[in-house]
Amino acid sequence: MQHPSLDLSVSAAAPLSGELRLPGDKSLSHRAALFAALAEGESVIGRFLVSGVTRAMLDALTALGVAWRLEGDRLTVTGRGLRGLATPAAPLHCGNSATTLRMLAGALAAAGTPATLDGSAGLRRRPMNRVTDPLAAMGVPVATADGCAPLTFAARDAARPLRALDYTLPVASAQVKSCLLLAALAADGPTTLREPGPSRDHTERMLAAMGAEIRSEAPLSVRVAPLARPLAPLRLELPGDISSAAFLLVAAALVPGSSVLVRDVGVNPTRTGLLDALSAMGARVRIEAPRLSAGEPVGDIRLEAAPLRAVRIAGDTVVRMIDEFPVFALAACFADGVTEVHDAEELRYKETDRISVLCGELRRLGVRLDERRDGFSIRGGTLAGGVCEAHGDHRLAMSLALAGLAAPAPVTVRHAEILSESFPDFAPQLRTLGATVTETAS
Ligand code: S3P
Repeated sequence: MQHPSLDLSVSAAAPLSGELRLPGDKSLSHRAALFAALAEGESVIGRFLVSGVTRAMLDALTALGVAWRLEGDRLTVTGRGLRGLATPAAPLHCGNSATTLRMLAGALAAAGTPATLDGSAGLRRRPMNRVTDPLAAMGVPVATADGCAPLTFAARDAARPLRALDYTLPVASAQVKSCLLLAALAADGPTTLREPGPSRDHTERMLAAMGAEIRSEAPLSVRVAPLARPLAPLRLELPGDISSAAFLLVAAALVPGSSVLVRDVGVNPTRTGLLDALSAMGARVRIEAPRLSAGEPVGDIRLEAAPLRAVRIAGDTVVRMIDEFPVFALAACFADGVTEVHDAEELRYKETDRISVLCGELRRLGVRLDERRDGFSIRGGTLAGGVCEAHGDHRLAMSLALAGLAAPAPVTVRHAEILSESFPDFAPQLRTLGATVTETAS
């Protein structure tokens, strides 16, 4: 999506305080829209995230013949069944969203629908052979451009099942797992997938709630049976996005004396690595009123600022906070000591090479750090402020802006308009807490 160019400036703040309720979770919004399209009957999804990346999913569904309507943040979808997707007239444009592309790949594989999946120049650089190799092993006729998008699916007789798979993912990835789980619904027997780390399990929970036979057999292993009866439609209210809450929680953690409460947030343990990291750094973080909603853990997250100290992040925690490294790095910039991140090479394959770009922009703001292949080390207390660049990465734009809350000089992020991909309300929500945020057209 094209937006007018925007510079975002944030300057030092008095303590932040307040209560917030955020838009629905991005990962769950993608899944709810797509799975509802594959169900039979009408689904109603409350608190759907309306943003750049979920628009890409909805537009693709339209092109696949799926009827939906959005009233505020309530999405109603009329499902066409697992094999009912129509042949689109043109390539499906997934914008910047790898989640859209990889999950649609699984749906097209199951449906046997001929289609091409494409996206922005940034998305075309991201590795897609991690889905197309196992799909090809299942018998899906799919071609790539040197392992990247565009992905072209040839027509396949959907009456003939795909080959069931027994597969170990080379990297922990919920996008890859979700793609293969969808394809496996149309296989000739049960499929087993194993992962090297605990990637988010929203697909497993949502498909199970819709009647699919899917369960975890052992830690990091999931088994799914071919669909015996149509997926039941969804009726649910999505929780708030913990990956958006992360920006406001870190904002509060950066400014001494701050206290915030973010209500109704998804707190699935595969997503809460940042909360553990902030606690280990000394911030006072609590999940209050924990509850289950439509199969997902939900709670209110309270954070009270306290002096931050450096930590070391590695292993499974990396997977459980995979989207939160840009904002975590900001907390590290204001912690006492040297924070280290290891085992995080996967960050190089996100919206940008998040290790290289993050380190480059933090250096521009004066931060002393070391970059490694699989992570970085940040010396706290060295961020000076200044002007930096979003590099077409929504999470980088928002994270860098937060630096202005605690830096000796204001921080301006150029080309910050990209943040509307996932959190269009970022600036107003930050203002609600008392921060001074200026948006300037550039
Ligand atoms: C997502 C999974 C993650 C994450 C992305 C959303 C999902 O990607 O980075 O923002 O909704 O499944 P990987 O699963 O490829 O790590």
